[in-house]
Amino acid sequence: MGEVEISGSKNAVLPIMAAALLAEGKCEIMDVPELRDVAVMCDLLRSLGSTVSEDYEKSVVTIETKQISTNEAPYDLVKKMRASILIMGPLLAKTGYAKVPLPGGCTIGARPIDLHIKGFRTMGAEIIEGNGYVEAKAEKLVGCNVYLDSPSVGATENIMMAAVLAEGTTVIENVAKEPEIVDLANFLNKMGARIKGAGTDSIKIEGVEALSSAKHAVIPDRIETGTFMVAAAITKGNILIRNVVPDHVKSLTAKLKECGVVIAFSDDGMIVRGDINPITATDIKTLPHPGFPTDMQSQFMALLTVAEGQSTVIETVFENRFMHVKELNRMGANIKEEGNRATVPGGRTLHGAQVVATDLRAGAALVLAGMVADGTTEVSRIFHVERGYSHFVEKFRNLGAAILRIED
Ligand code: EPZ
Repeated sequence: MGEVEISGSKNAVLPIMAAALLAEGKCEIMDVPELRDVAVMCDLLRSLGSTVSEDYEKSVVTIETKQISTNEAPYDLVKKMRASILIMGPLLAKTGYAKVPLPGGCTIGARPIDLHIKGFRTMGAEIIEGNGYVEAKAEKLVGCNVYLDSPSVGATENIMMAAVLAEGTTVIENVAKEPEIVDLANFLNKMGARIKGAGTDSIKIEGVEALSSAKHAVIPDRIETGTFMVAAAITKGNILIRNVVPDHVKSLTAKLKECGVVIAFSDDGMIVRGDINPITATDIKTLPHPGFPTDMQSQFMALLTVAEGQSTVIETVFENRFMHVKELNRMGANIKEEGNRATVPGGRTLHGAQVVATDLRAGAALVLAGMVADGTTEVSRIFHVERGYSHFVEKFRNLGAAILRIED
C-alpha cells in the first residue's frame, strides 16, 4: 500500500494570506503548501509593503504589515494569479482605497468580479472601473445586507474581509459554503473579528475597530485529496492518504463508492482501494459546495473514460471547463461534448500521447490518464499543475507511478 500526505489547501491559504493585511502585527500561517500561487501571493503582499517570510521546510509563512506602502497591486503579479483580487477587500477595509488590475478571464471562463463589486458598493465604496483596472474608495465602509446572485467563493471572501472593520453589522446571504470560507472566517475570528455563520447560507459580520495578529494552521487541500483518491481508483491502486478531513470530501467519497471504489477511514487517514471491485460508470454534475466540486470534474472525467459503461458529466459552475476533453480524446477517450454536458462512453483503453495542460485541474486529469494509458504520455505546460499541487511528481512517484518531470 502506498502512502501520501496531503498539503495545506491552496484555496484556503490564498485568502488567509490576503486577510493578514488586516492585522496589526505579525501573523504566522502554518501548513502552507509550497506552490507557485503561494509564492506569487507572497510577492504581491511584499509589493504592498508587507514583510513576508517563507519557510517551506516548516511549511510556515509569516506576514507583517507595519505600513501599507502602496494601495495598487502590480499588473505583472495580478496577471499570474486571479486570486490577487482577494487583496481588494482587506486593502479597502484597512486603508479606504484599493486599485487592482482586472484579473481578466482564463481558460475556464470569463471570471467576472461583479459580485465582489456589488458587495463593496453596497457597503458604501465608490467603484471606478476603466482601462483594465478597478478602484474602490471609501472613507469608512458601513455594514449592510448583501444578497449574492450566485454563491461566489471569491466574492464571499472579499466582502467578508471588507466587512470585518466596517461600521455596524453586515449580513451576506446566498454565500459560498466551501470549507475554505470557514477556514478564512476562523482565521479572521482569531484576529478579533466577529463573524458568525460561515459554512451556512448566510454570514453575519459585526464590524470591529481593529484586528490583531494571529497564528493559524490551514486546512488540508480537499482537491488534492480528491485527486489522489481518483488516482487510486483509475490505477486500481491501494493507498493510504494522510491529513484528510473526511467531511470536506463527502460528495467525492459518495461518487467514488458508486463507481465501486472501497473507501475506509482509520486513525492514520483514508484508505482508498480501486483494486477490489471493477470500476463502473456514474453521472456527475458540478455544483457549489456541498455539491460535487467543479475542481474535481476533469480528474473524475479521466476516471470515467476507463470505467465500465457510459457516464454523463455536467459542468454548471464555469462556462468553459471542458478544455481537457479534446486532450483526453487524443488519448482515445471518444468523449462527446455538447455545451456543458459531456458523454463519456467509458470502457476505453487509453493510449499515450503528447497532450497539453490548459489549466490546473485539466493538467492533473491528463497526468492521471497518462498513468493508465498504454505507452508514454507527455503532458506539456505542467507549470499549471505546479500552481496547485506541491511536489506532485515526487508524491506520485512515491506511490509507484512511472512519472518524470522533464525541463522543456
Ligand atoms: C474559487 O474561484 C477557486 N479559486 C476555484 O478554484 C474554484 O473553481 C471556484 O472557487 C469555485 O469553487 C480560489 O479559491 C483561489 P467563484 P472563484 O467566484 O472565487 C461566477 C482551482 O482550480 N462569478 O465561486 O473565482 C464565475 O464566473 C480554482 O483551484 C460571477 O459571475 O470562483 C463562475 O462561473 C479554479 N461573478 C462562478 O461564479 C463574480 O463576481 C464561480 O466563481 C464572481 C464569480
